[in-house]
Amino acid sequence: MVLMKIIDLRSDTVTLPTQAMKQAMFDAKLGDDVYGEDPSVKELQDKLADMTAFEAALFMPTGTMTNQVALATHAERGHEVIMPEKAHIYEYEIGSISVLSGLIPRLIDAPLGVPAVESIRSSINRSIHQAPTGLIALENTHNIFSGTVLPLKRCQEISELAQEENLPLHLDGARAFNAAVAQNISIKELCEPFDSVSICLSKGLAAPVGSVLLGSQDFISKAHRYRKMFGGGMRQAGVIAAAGIVAIETMTDRLADDHKRAKTLAVALNDIDGISINLASVHTNIVFFSIPNAPVFAEKMRAKGVLSNALSSDSIRLVTHYHITDNDIIETVKIIKELQN
Ligand SMILES: Cc1ncc(COP(=O)(O)O)c(C=O)c1O
Repeated sequence: MVLMKIIDLRSDTVTLPTQAMKQAMFDAKLGDDVYGEDPSVKELQDKLADMTAFEAALFMPTGTMTNQVALATHAERGHEVIMPEKAHIYEYEIGSISVLSGLIPRLIDAPLGVPAVESIRSSINRSIHQAPTGLIALENTHNIFSGTVLPLKRCQEISELAQEENLPLHLDGARAFNAAVAQNISIKELCEPFDSVSICLSKGLAAPVGSVLLGSQDFISKAHRYRKMFGGGMRQAGVIAAAGIVAIETMTDRLADDHKRAKTLAVALNDIDGISINLASVHTNIVFFSIPNAPVFAEKMRAKGVLSNALSSDSIRLVTHYHITDNDIIETVKIIKELQN
């Protein structure tokens, strides 16, 4: 019996740790991180703080937690949080912004995830009859808009506005390294406009677990309290942080390969009758294509060994990552073409 090869394009979260990560986990020096005594967690936090030029960092299990801890730390109950439409914090964090922290999301227009400075300015509440604006939260890359990049210049302009208005500026940078690589800038430059950034290690960087929140020393000291409150105080967490260290040391530059493969995939799929893609939106490793009856088509793809995500009735998401090769791209295009004929 010949086993069918599975090409898993559902998400970059399906990546498995490399051999070097597993070895680092095995060898990791450990301690109780709630007492601040885990050397591997400290090393990861220090390294990432150094790379991004933030004063301090805090390791947590998930990107949802780093975002939610950041929001709780920056804003007060009853405050509004301005964010781009379709922000992950709003769409996919199960309303935790309101449930955990009593915050109110204020979604603004953001074509391809890029809000205009004026849209943010005009959404800031100034009247005593309105919930005060507590925070601006951006997303780079934008998960739902095809992994689109929020350009550095726009981030700087929004940062200037935030400073004028005395509002903190947070970045959901689950895929911040993808955004930096795509713009050919350093992660330090990418982070510079923000007061806090949340970076995931378990997406394109292929670590098994983990996300890091970055900010000033004072901000991170306050964030400690919310991490514990939200259940994120882990003990010998160095066992997973060790893989994160390998991830940030070895897996960032190769993201350019994922981006190249996503572009190749998008261009080839766009040539198939009945499929359309906004090629201008393919900046990094995420490709959305439009097709009628998307869930049914995704099932047909699955039967042929290509796993995808039908995120609406007429669109399917494909994500390239560490385990996807050039041949997988060729095979995926071939299978989709056959299914469309
Ligand atoms: C943009 C963005 N932010 C945050 C998260 C949350 O990460 P986690 O699944 O680790 O909670 C994700 C997850 O896919 C994401 O895409």
